[in-house]
Amino acid sequence: MKAANAGGSRDPKAYVLGNRELWEQWTPLKAASAQYDLAGFRSGGSRMRALERAEVGAVHGRSLLHLQCHVGVDTLSWARLGARVTGVDFSSEGVATARSLAADIDPTAVFVEADVLDLPAHLDGTYDIVYTSHGVLGWLPDLNRWAEVVAHFTAPGGFVYVFESHPAAWMLDNHVQEPRLKLRYSYFGEEKPLAFEYRSPTAVPDRQISGAEHVWGHSLGDVISALAGAGLRIEFLHEWPFVGWRLLPFMEQGADGWWRLPEGLPAMPLSFSLRASRPPDKPAEERSGPQSDGE
Ligand SMILES: C[S@@+](CC[C@H](N)C(=O)[O-])C[C@H]1O[C@@H](n2cnc3c(N)ncnc32)[C@H](O)[C@@H]1O
Repeated sequence: MKAANAGGSRDPKAYVLGNRELWEQWTPLKAASAQYDLAGFRSGGSRMRALERAEVGAVHGRSLLHLQCHVGVDTLSWARLGARVTGVDFSSEGVATARSLAADIDPTAVFVEADVLDLPAHLDGTYDIVYTSHGVLGWLPDLNRWAEVVAHFTAPGGFVYVFESHPAAWMLDNHVQEPRLKLRYSYFGEEKPLAFEYRSPTAVPDRQISGAEHVWGHSLGDVISALAGAGLRIEFLHEWPFVGWRLLPFMEQGADGWWRLPEGLPAMPLSFSLRASRPPDKPAEERSGPQSDGE
């Protein structure tokens, strides 16, 4: 995988449409892969990871909006834990697969095909929990707009939960095969995305896909400031020395499913989780300020 900053000055929307074409090719391959095992998922069980379950807390009876839901496995895992779920993805293949799974698992689940940054034009309402995870933020050219969308859909008293690979981990050169950490990419995102010539999905490494992937770097400060700027209150930010997929060739998977650096390398953050809440609406009498006594 070769990377370079995208040349020219294209409208970010053009890059997003190109990424969508790529996801339309990747998604059916991933959905059919042994790693996803959709037949096994249909037959039962939540695949939600224990750490996320613990950090999100009880979801039973709560409304949950899953942004960039892919084929809906995580969305429907929350549904199996009792949430009333809505999933959103810009891939028609992803949404079609999610709807077909939902027909067997939870027919009340709703799946919407939309670019997450345009979502208010496609979906109404607010949700107790807005959830997004594992390989999502790099696809978005405008994190402030993303945070506005997140805040728009978070009900008063509700929260957003994000679990994502750490921007520091994205600095590392993933061509290095031996257990060695070599910095290659800038920590700070630039307006122009990084362009990767092609990539086969991790779940299907033997299938070569043609196309260009465009991704934007976002520092941890960018993520936090975007959410705070949209009026959300940061409840916690946790950094973790493991990640949900094999980011570097020499990573090792533990019995808990997480991928870690081998022993002997310095510990560094490979992913982060955060929760940010929307303050409850104030009662009408508090909003209108102290009452005059009429004198
Ligand atoms: C790495 S996958 C996320 C995987 C997900 N955590 C899961 O449940 O398996 C990234 C997803 O983001 C979607 N995506 C990328 N850019 C998007 C955008 N601008 N709007 C909506 N979905 C987008 C892709 O179609 C893909 O399904």
